[in-house]
Amino acid sequence: MSILLETKNLTKRFGGLEAVKDVNIQVKEREIHALIGPNGAGKTTTLSMINGTLRPTAGEVLFLGQEITGKPTYVVANLGIGRTFQNIKQFGSLTVLENLMVGGMSHYNKGGVLHMLLHMKETRHMEEAVEEKAKEILSRIGMEAFEKEYAGNLPYGRQKVLELGRALMGDPRLILLDEPAAGLNPSERAEFVEILKNVYESGIDLFLIEHNMDVVMNISHRITVLNFGRQIAEGTPQEIANNETVIKAYLGDRFSEGKNRRG
Ligand SMILES: Nc1ncnc2c1ncn2[C@@H]1O[C@H](COP(=O)(O)OP(=O)(O)OP(=O)(O)O)[C@@H](O)[C@H]1O
Ligand SMILES: [Mg+2]
Repeated sequence: MSILLETKNLTKRFGGLEAVKDVNIQVKEREIHALIGPNGAGKTTTLSMINGTLRPTAGEVLFLGQEITGKPTYVVANLGIGRTFQNIKQFGSLTVLENLMVGGMSHYNKGGVLHMLLHMKETRHMEEAVEEKAKEILSRIGMEAFEKEYAGNLPYGRQKVLELGRALMGDPRLILLDEPAAGLNPSERAEFVEILKNVYESGIDLFLIEHNMDVVMNISHRITVLNFGRQIAEGTPQEIANNETVIKAYLGDRFSEGKNRRG
């Protein structure tokens, strides 16, 4: 299997703090890869360096063999990497459909607002195409019924699903997800896992940060573990669940407490 995404000695310093140090991750094609570890381990920072939200202090990021280190987020997105955020970033006062269309229009519109005004007919066609696509994505994520609802009025679980929908609008090859199931109740979580599996089966690979071990163990093919910015293990779910170092640093607490930090 060929490598889709690769980091080489990826490092981020914030002043004196080494938030991420020499991290080497390989996400292979047709893989669901999870990134786990305690709070503050450097997981979000790693994701942010991959999609261009943060510039690495050192190291490289390669996507499909091409170096993308430090490229702006829109360039990375156009190359095929979508992302969802740990904190919800949608527009509460727009409808669900509009939330999808906002991202979609900016994706199509390379010419700017003036271009759009001067080419109203073209713009209209583009808008229709984006709307059609947004509706297709709503059905993929099981949210057709919520099309006209304001995003801000949705239950939390639906807002997380909408975040995923927004990432899908960019036609990604790979989606980076930052704690997609955090704060979901067990039935919302089960539903989310099904949606993620469907997305994966549609040909999109996933790289996700997740604290919920049920989710991680259920859907991941491979897992990378960070602790204090360092990569302490990598392997199959089975290997990770039985890894002494990982149990000491992270899993021991979680399994013995039988719950996760954010419920
Ligand atoms: N912009 C920043 N400036 C300074 N320090 C930061 C910044 N962003 C993150 N950090 C620090 O870097 C370390 C790694 O943070 P990061 O958010 O990547 O952790 P995480 O693994 O995602 O944790 P969590 O599970 O709580 O989301 C933490 O000590 C954090 O306080
Ligand atoms: Mg985080």
